[in-house]
Amino acid sequence: MLAIIGGSGLNQLANLEVSRRQIVRTPYGEASGPVTFGRIGDGEVAFLARHGYGHTLAPHEINYRANLWALREKGVTRILAVCTVGGIAPGLGAGALVVPDQIIDYTWGRKSTYFEGAEEPVVHVDFTHPYCGETRRMILDAAAEAGVAVADGGTYAATQGPRLETAAEIDRLERDGAHLVGMTGMPEAALARELAIPYASLALVANPAAGRGASAQAVSMEEISRVMKETMGSVRLVVERMVARHGHP
Ligand code: HPA
Repeated sequence: MLAIIGGSGLNQLANLEVSRRQIVRTPYGEASGPVTFGRIGDGEVAFLARHGYGHTLAPHEINYRANLWALREKGVTRILAVCTVGGIAPGLGAGALVVPDQIIDYTWGRKSTYFEGAEEPVVHVDFTHPYCGETRRMILDAAAEAGVAVADGGTYAATQGPRLETAAEIDRLERDGAHLVGMTGMPEAALARELAIPYASLALVANPAAGRGASAQAVSMEEISRVMKETMGSVRLVVERMVARHGHP
């Protein structure tokens, strides 16, 4: 089954016919909330709100291990993760949508592996290409069918948050080769890989990153809200197309 992990601004799927909600217990504690199961058209889908349904969990407080474990436990075999980011590359202005193809992880102190503890043998998973190529292609095709412009590829810098970055930090991320910056892409992607769940992301650029363009002096929260409201419709179109095409048990 396909699952959608919804980020900021996507706490529910508007056209989802909900069949059930289930709280899943995991060995890692509680997921961000119950997993919602339902259909969009003929496509079956599971949905999980990353920050909780009331958006109460900060990026570093999210129990990523429980979230991914719960989805796998419920039979999820593919994940489309929606996230909100700041744009670093000049072409990625507010309102742009991106399917990233690389990650640089700057987060710290998060529980970021299943392979730890006395009983667990250490496993080093391959993460050369952190997103599933097939799933990326499905998202890009769904976007094309929905008539929504989406940039193919980009390096996602995962920062710790919850504060936004300094202008100098964004300069550094750019020198490192990052094109977009968000707070929730990791360890989510790595945990999906550890569980061997095909995983890719659709990122919505909500603002120019700190120090860039309209964020030269400050990042405006009002602008972020406005852009997210304006662009979430396109995200929904892509997600719905993806579910309609690939949502089957
Ligand atoms: N930085 C980090 N995360 C974000 C941003 C940003 O500028 N915008 C939305 N999520």
